[in-house]
Amino acid sequence: MPLPAPYRLLSATLIFELILAPGLCFSQLMKLSDFCWKSSVTTGVVISVCLEKKVGVKRKMRSTVVGGRECCAAIQSESGSELLQPRLKSEYRQTITTAINLTSTTMIALGLEGSANKLGVGIILHPPEGSPAQILANIRHTFVSPPGEGFLPKDTAKHHRSWLVKLVRQALKEAGVTVKVVDCICYTKGPGMGAPLQSVAVAARMLSLLWGKELVGVNHCIGHVEMGREITGAQNPVVLYVSGGNTQVIAYASQRYRIFGEALDIAVGNCLDRFARTLNISNDPAPGYNIEQMAKKGKHLLDLPYAVKGMDCSFSGILAIIDILAQKLESNTGEWMDDITGEVITREDLCFSLQETVFAMLVEITERAMAHVGSSQVLIVGGVGCNQRLQEMMGMMARDRGGSVFATDERFCIDNGIMIAHAGLLAYSTGFITPLEDSTCTQRFRTDEVFVKWRD
Ligand code: FE2
Repeated sequence: MPLPAPYRLLSATLIFELILAPGLCFSQLMKLSDFCWKSSVTTGVVISVCLEKKVGVKRKMRSTVVGGRECCAAIQSESGSELLQPRLKSEYRQTITTAINLTSTTMIALGLEGSANKLGVGIILHPPEGSPAQILANIRHTFVSPPGEGFLPKDTAKHHRSWLVKLVRQALKEAGVTVKVVDCICYTKGPGMGAPLQSVAVAARMLSLLWGKELVGVNHCIGHVEMGREITGAQNPVVLYVSGGNTQVIAYASQRYRIFGEALDIAVGNCLDRFARTLNISNDPAPGYNIEQMAKKGKHLLDLPYAVKGMDCSFSGILAIIDILAQKLESNTGEWMDDITGEVITREDLCFSLQETVFAMLVEITERAMAHVGSSQVLIVGGVGCNQRLQEMMGMMARDRGGSVFATDERFCIDNGIMIAHAGLLAYSTGFITPLEDSTCTQRFRTDEVFVKWRD
């Protein structure tokens, strides 16, 4: 079946990389070749030459005209090898029952995340109702840009394309399952950066066609929220989702995750990341992490704008001011002294002041949302949610209200594949699938657009 025209070229490019990737088994290569012939004659020729060099197999070609366009299909390898015939899922399930205790109502999903500079692949198992999910694999590879630079969409997309096959293979190996027991392939539909999202969506479509599995497009923000709830056990918390691309205060009502407050311009993580570039702070392992470590040594709280507007926040003005202060500090006009203590202002003080100011803003709007919905639980998700100072400040607020804070570690806070697998499988269990022709991605996909059928 040919893919819709806009995806054909992208798919062909990805398939080419997949075939060149080491480690694909013979049957997978044959299936890829078949798919290429059906998608594009030219690509089919290129791929088949490539395939012939790699595994020494020539393909026969059958040519037909469908709708005025020539379509070709590789019908059999000359060696006479047949593609693997699909086997009943139950047969495969029986073979791994001892390892992960599968039952007829168990479901497994593979999740692909790549909306920013992290490429994540996760495999999750949902046991029969009532039991907690089992994480079978959750691996990630991060595209790290040089100090002083952000990650560009085209470079990030290239990173994701070149690592995806390796990560999927590694995840299946770690999980100890075969693709036969996977019920669906979940991928991040949005929001995020266009080119990286596109790379992952194309890969998801490719795997769906290759393995004959249903696709489930997942809202990235819902992935964070559902994974946070699953890991921490928080039942109905107000959620603070803070990352490089998103800043939202979310609460659940009537089968939607409603946005109570959000950033009006740049996300809080973006504010921190861009300040790290100003100070030439390393992006390894993450600029926000390095700012957090420097902030621990800061002592002087500098006066920065505090921009809470109703339930929303603004961070761009704060970034502009802290950048000016950084330039003042870095310029060679003598040491900058604190007016009261007479002590020298340092880079660490700038990091400390920035963190204290923006985190105080986030705590304020979260507290207001808690008061509004009458909740005593806060769940912090997203990459910035790893920050221990933010967790500490939120904890102080929650304790004052007789409540508690739930947060996860970097495995689940930072973008990952398992959250996409988890949220996708929740939707899949209600009958939701994403047809191939709708398996697009989008940079703008608001949290409250998703109908949360799996919750009461
Ligand atoms: Fe995220």
